[in-house]
Amino acid sequence: MEKRMETILKFCESRPVTVDVGCDHGYIGLALLQNKITNHLIATDISEKSLQKAVDLFAEHNLQEFASTRVGDGLSVIKDDEKIDQVIIAGIGGLEIQHIIKDFKGSKKIKNWVLQPMNEIQSLREFLNRNGFTIKQDVVVKEDEKFYHILSVCAGKQDLTEIQKSFGANIESYNTVEYKLWLIQKCKKIEEILKNLPKNNEKIKYFSNCLKNANKIKEQIKGV
Ligand SMILES: C[S@@+](CC[C@H](N)C(=O)[O-])C[C@H]1O[C@@H](n2cnc3c(N)ncnc32)[C@H](O)[C@@H]1O
Repeated sequence: MEKRMETILKFCESRPVTVDVGCDHGYIGLALLQNKITNHLIATDISEKSLQKAVDLFAEHNLQEFASTRVGDGLSVIKDDEKIDQVIIAGIGGLEIQHIIKDFKGSKKIKNWVLQPMNEIQSLREFLNRNGFTIKQDVVVKEDEKFYHILSVCAGKQDLTEIQKSFGANIESYNTVEYKLWLIQKCKKIEEILKNLPKNNEKIKYFSNCLKNANKIKEQIKGV
């Protein structure tokens, strides 16, 4: 199994009802049902065409009885009195993920969120921190030359430092080869930004500080 999917599944808890938002092909939901991680799956997608792939996949595996499939935006397809325990949102932009969480009334009742944003990871961490969520796990995995951030989240206040917001909520998770490779790439990007910023630009201080923090972490994990 591919690293991204393997980590998403590892971060899923054994829960009665799981929603897979933006399910597309339905592979995540299929693995959850086949491995009995959840009893009932609600697979959703904003695109009817994408959702049809999941409908076909569950039918092919005779799992229709355990999977409800719904077209719609985010968690708007969940009824007010419907009990859901766990939500996965993977492969969608970080700002879109924030909207989905914000627009859902029952967000604080969800026992476990598994989030894999395609971008805006720092903004997502800041949003979660500001809105009373705790990031339990926060890792970087590499697949096909791309880095993916995968988080597990629950309700509860957490005070992240600026370093945690930018570089990962779990300091212990920095000690991996994949994290180190991601950090090296991140440093190169910051150096490039700094090189191209005009002198006296107000963002110089912010990015210089970012680079200083990144280099500090690099030094801490140099033995990895
Ligand atoms: C790149 S695929 C990810 C598929 C799967 N979640 C995964 O990680 O392998 C993104 C899917 O999310 C759907 N999507 C994007 N925004 C959405 C939203 N606001 N609500 C529901 N589905 C959405 C897209 O139609 C697409 O099928």
